[in-house]
Amino acid sequence: MRFSTSTAAIAASLSLASAQTFTDCNPTEKKCPADTGLPSSAFTSNFTDGKGASASWSTAAYSTVNYGSQGAEFTITKEKQAPTVETDFYIFFGRADVKMRAATGQGIVSSIVLESDDLDEIDWEFVGSDTAQVQSNFFGKGNTTAYDRVQYIPVSNPQQEFHTYTLDWNSDRLEYIIDGQLVRTLTYDDPLTVGGKNYPQTPMRLKLGNWCGGCDGMPKGTVEWAGGETTFEAAPYTMYVESVSITNYNPADSYEYGDLSGSWESINIIKGGKTSQPTGSVTETSTASPTQTKAPTKAHSVSKVDNTAAAVTLTGKYSVNSTTTAAGHQTGSIKTSIVMATTQVPGAQPTDSGPGGAAPSPVPATGAAAANGVMVSTVLMGMLFSFLLL
Ligand SMILES: *[C@@H]1O[C@H](CO)[C@@H](O)[C@H](O)[C@H]1NC(C)=O
Ligand SMILES: *[C@@H]1O[C@H](CO)[C@@H](O)[C@H](O)[C@H]1NC(C)=O
Ligand SMILES: *[C@@H]1O[C@H](CO)[C@@H](O)[C@H](O)[C@H]1NC(C)=O
Repeated sequence: MRFSTSTAAIAASLSLASAQTFTDCNPTEKKCPADTGLPSSAFTSNFTDGKGASASWSTAAYSTVNYGSQGAEFTITKEKQAPTVETDFYIFFGRADVKMRAATGQGIVSSIVLESDDLDEIDWEFVGSDTAQVQSNFFGKGNTTAYDRVQYIPVSNPQQEFHTYTLDWNSDRLEYIIDGQLVRTLTYDDPLTVGGKNYPQTPMRLKLGNWCGGCDGMPKGTVEWAGGETTFEAAPYTMYVESVSITNYNPADSYEYGDLSGSWESINIIKGGKTSQPTGSVTETSTASPTQTKAPTKAHSVSKVDNTAAAVTLTGKYSVNSTTTAAGHQTGSIKTSIVMATTQVPGAQPTDSGPGGAAPSPVPATGAAAANGVMVSTVLMGMLFSFLLL
């Protein structure tokens, strides 16, 4: 959603709107300062102890958050309030458990957001007038061209009962979990991510807050999405957060974007003066026996096909059949680029797989490719066939 306003208080509320469209420094546009990491793997805040937030949290400008026996209180009583806190540190893949109760109020939106400097975003959002569902959503690189990624998930009385909402996020998949029950899984290669482009994959910090989507100055679409215009007769509208527990899968002092790609592989993990690259958080190991030949079920992107060479970029975990390729046996690699010579195909046209992944599917490859007028050499197809999806 795009907003334009100069009011600072409204700007604060935008920091929790679905899909941010601004950032202090966007590392896909230029070199930005490194992100502060969380050097330990675990972090917990229980806001009910009367001590308020720890030093690791910042309260957004122009906002007030109180702490009481039910935890952190994010209260809206009038226009232009958007109480928000965020962690001072970033995590790079990890898990966030938030035990909270959403605010009531038409147009009032309680939010749990993980967000990165290049506007990758993962959300739980609660509309005050929806007493039976929570919205799970995600965005990659601030891409808001489509709002097809949201899924509404049933939950009982989120405005009356505390529940624990969890995001468990690694390079392969993102899990949404409520009270320990898995309710949604988004894989890196889900069609909704458009070949991974919209998959959240850069260091994120956690933001918690309550904002008014039904208030003055909000675009019509936002007001409708938030359940309608907000009136304040029934205020205060308070979101309560009892506790937060965070696990960082790549503990670090800081994270640096190694280039402008915004890909998870480009992130430098800096700890104790040493820099390392992520290896992903692959939890499964191959159990496929060598005879279990299974064609990849997802389309791969064929980035370039011409008369002399083809570059095939594979996303996922593959084993390359060493008996049929020169690449050797590679297991557990996440992204593999193979450039190979192909035979001359008279009249072959360069092609590329546009967004939407119209890449030739390995199974009906030859027929489908031919039907599309795209000539892909049989050598290339033979190669695709030889990949085993682990
Ligand atoms: C937070 O602390 C309170 C008071 O000690 C305790 O009752 C509650 O269970 C704690 N919450 C979590 C999620 O640990
Ligand atoms: C943004 O996402 C849409 C699908 O939601 C996709 O078609 C488009 O290519 C993406 N744009 C960029 C710049 O990645
Ligand atoms: C590897 O390729 C060879 C030659 O095409 C084939 O005989 C063999 O079955 C393949 N192995 C697997 C595991 O697919």
